Amino acid sequence: MIEQLNHVAIVVPDLDVAVARYAGVLGATVEPARTLERHGVRAAFVRMPGTAIELLEPWGEDSPVADFLRRHPQGGLHHLCYGVADLDAAIARAEAEGARVLGAPRRGAHGARVVFLHPRNTLGHLIELEEI
Ligand code: CO
Repeated sequence: MIEQLNHVAIVVPDLDVAVARYAGVLGATVEPARTLERHGVRAAFVRMPGTAIELLEPWGEDSPVADFLRRHPQGGLHHLCYGVADLDAAIARAEAEGARVLGAPRRGAHGARVVFLHPRNTLGHLIELEEI
């Protein structure tokens, strides 16, 4: 069902510092940061063949990653995103296998349909499924 590691998302307290660290320490080429108002984040992507690292900083009052940053003030691994060919089939399978799907599919940062699975039923880490 999962076909690729689409991206790994890391929440950081300061996106500009994080971009500089990835560029400096790891020699990464980081795309310019973008504010994704609808998603309540500022984001910058490190693209690599077949996958990416998504650096996320909370933006606005209702940022979905603000709570995470309060619990992890230095930042940390937030979620893994796997690409799937058929999101509806993936949701049906995940639910049948006991996973808890968080809400209805919506458009993610790249315009594709995404959904999240609650970490309680997925080995303690948040999983995003993105239709590719
Ligand atoms: Co993501």
